[in-house]
Amino acid sequence: MGHTICIIPGDGIGPEVATAARRVIDASGVSIDWVELPAGAGAVEKFGEVLPDDTVRAIEAHRVALKGPVTTPIGGGFTSVNVGLRKRLNLYAAVRPVRSLPGVKTRYEDVDLVVVRENTEGLYSGLENEITAGVVQSLKIATRTACERIARYAFNYCHERGRKRVTVFHKANILKKSDGLFLTCAREVRDAMANGVEYEELIIDNGCMQLVRDPTRFDVVLMENLYGDIVSDLCAGLVGGLGVVPGANIGDGCAVFEAVHGSAPDIAGQNLANPLALIMSGVMMLNHLGETGAATRIRDAYDAVLAEGNPAELTRDIGGTGGTSTFADALIKRLG
Ligand code: NAI
Repeated sequence: MGHTICIIPGDGIGPEVATAARRVIDASGVSIDWVELPAGAGAVEKFGEVLPDDTVRAIEAHRVALKGPVTTPIGGGFTSVNVGLRKRLNLYAAVRPVRSLPGVKTRYEDVDLVVVRENTEGLYSGLENEITAGVVQSLKIATRTACERIARYAFNYCHERGRKRVTVFHKANILKKSDGLFLTCAREVRDAMANGVEYEELIIDNGCMQLVRDPTRFDVVLMENLYGDIVSDLCAGLVGGLGVVPGANIGDGCAVFEAVHGSAPDIAGQNLANPLALIMSGVMMLNHLGETGAATRIRDAYDAVLAEGNPAELTRDIGGTGGTSTFADALIKRLG
C-alpha cells in the first residue's frame, strides 16, 4: 500500500537535500505519493507567509512530513517556522539519534546515543518583551503536562528499543523552579516507569564536559528545549558533523522528520551539502510508517557507501570530493 507524505523542501540547502532524499527513498521500492508544501523564507516571497495555513493543514491531514531546513532571521524579522510548526502540530518530542558511522573518522568510536528534547516550551515559547529601554525579558515556560509527557516519551523509547539508561541534563541548581519542575517530573516518571531502565541526572555544564570526554557512556539523554537544541549540535560534532545526524519531531497526531542542521547558507546552491542527515531522517520516517524493509535497505546502502569510502562518492564535510547528487546517486546504485 502506498503512503501520502508531505515534503517541505525549505530554504538554503533544503531543496538540494530534499531532492536527494526523495530520490533515495523512491529508489528503496516503497510507494510514496509526495505532496510538496511551502514553508520558510522562500514561502514568504511566493505566498506572503512563512508558514501558510495550508501547509499545516496538509500535514495534519496526511500526518507525516519530511522537512528540509528553513532560514530564521537573526535578532528580528519573522519568528521561527520550526518553532511554529512544532507548537501548532504539538510535536512535543524531538528525537535525535547520534551514532558513529562506518568510514566517518572522528575522535570517538562506538557512539550510540539519542537526544530526546522537549520541543514545545522553555525559552522557545517566544515570550519576550522590552520592559523599559535597555531592559528586556524572555520567559522560560515549564508546565507539568509537557515535562511529564517528554519524560514518559524517553522511558517508553527505552522500553521499545532496549535502551538501558536515561540521563537528564538540567540546570536546576540555578533555575530552581523551571528546571526544578523538569527534574521533579522526570523523577516521578522514573518511579512509575523505569522498570529496569537506569536513571541519572547531570547538571548540564558537567554533562557537556562528560559528553566530549566519553560520549560512549551515554544512552538516552533527556532535556528541555534550548539545552536540547544546543546539545544536539554538540553531539553531531562527535560523530562527523551536522551532515550525518537525523531527527524526528513526534506528536500524538503527526510526525515531522528533519535533520538537525539548518539551511547552511554558506554552502547553499553549490551541490556541496551532505544529504545523509535528511536521508537518515527519511529512514526514521520509513520505520515510523512500518516500512522497515525499505528503511533497512537504505541504511545498508549508506553504511556500505560510507564504509567503502570512495572520495568521489562522498561529500566534502566527511572527507570526500563529491557532491549532494553524487552521494545520492551512489546510494541509488546500491539500492538498484
Ligand atoms: P547550519 O546548521 O545551517 O550550518 C552550520 C554549519 O554546518 C555550516 O558551516 C554549514 O555549512 C554546515 N552544514 C550544515 N548542514 C550541512 C550539511 N547537510 N552538509 C554539510 N555541511 C552542513 O546552522 P546556521 O548556519 O547556524 O544556521 C543557518 C540557518 O538555518 C539559520 O537561519 C537558522 O535559523 C536555520 N536553522 C534551521 C533549522 C531547521 O530548519 N530545522 C535548524 C537549525 C538552524
